[in-house]
Amino acid sequence: MILLLVCIFLLVVLLARANREGTLIRKASDTIFGFGWSFLSENVDKEISGVKKELYSEVSGNVLEIGAGLGTSLKYLNMKKIKRFLAVEPNKAFHEGIEREALKTGFVVDYITTADIKQGKLVEKLKTSGNKPCLYIYGEFLAKNPETQELVASFGFFDSVIISYVLCSVGDVEQMLGLMGSVLSKSGKLYFNEHVSANENGSASEVIFHYFQELVTPIWGVFLGNCHLNRRTGEMIENSAYFKNVKIKRTTLAKSGFSRLLPVVYGSAEKA
Ligand SMILES: C[S@@+](CC[C@H](N)C(=O)[O-])C[C@H]1O[C@@H](n2cnc3c(N)ncnc32)[C@H](O)[C@@H]1O
Repeated sequence: MILLLVCIFLLVVLLARANREGTLIRKASDTIFGFGWSFLSENVDKEISGVKKELYSEVSGNVLEIGAGLGTSLKYLNMKKIKRFLAVEPNKAFHEGIEREALKTGFVVDYITTADIKQGKLVEKLKTSGNKPCLYIYGEFLAKNPETQELVASFGFFDSVIISYVLCSVGDVEQMLGLMGSVLSKSGKLYFNEHVSANENGSASEVIFHYFQELVTPIWGVFLGNCHLNRRTGEMIENSAYFKNVKIKRTTLAKSGFSRLLPVVYGSAEKA
């Protein structure tokens, strides 16, 4: 029995370590997550709609959303303030949802591929003009690489970057904070809502939940797109050298059920 438990533990550790962007394990994990998220996304969005209304009504200019999911954030935008929108979402199962939401919101939609970037076709694509702003869907992981540099060179620096429950699943939070800082314009702002680790020094239920999060995160992430329940994302943003004037508030993912235990941080931060 002990041997079996040790084997399961080792297997989970191995899978968790192998669950990196671009690997087969991550692809399988993203597929399972994509299936689950297509049922959960709408409810999760409803629970946080007050927060998103408050936050996203400020979003303006040249906008980047990292990990756009099914495009649930788009309906909170004030379209009069939006010039152009780049929605990066590596999980292709979500693209139809983004496109549907974008069209409902009043965007025209186009797709960008890595081949477009490599063949220098981006500038031509971005010329699409008309009276509606264009939302471009890019289906790759955003990372510090030549493709991202080229995206920024063509789009220009971003006035607003949006992330909604994304830092829980990126490979390296610190690297992603650096990347977001580097693609923002001088007066650019990050808008975030992220679920985070429960307070290990809080009430008894918070402490219990904190250790529960620590315990289940390795296996949870393997099956759910690398989602970590135990990240201290709020503190990481507050202490990040890439951001200043961080305005941060706390709430929970839902008012009832299991999710009411899941703390969420949200707010905005200026490029340092
Ligand atoms: C929990 S989902 C949230 C989706 C959406 N933002 C929402 O609030 O409904 C996290 C999303 O981040 C995406 N993601 C993870 N790492 C990413 C990266 N490096 N670049 C772009 N998207 C990423 C995943 O594909 C996934 O769709």
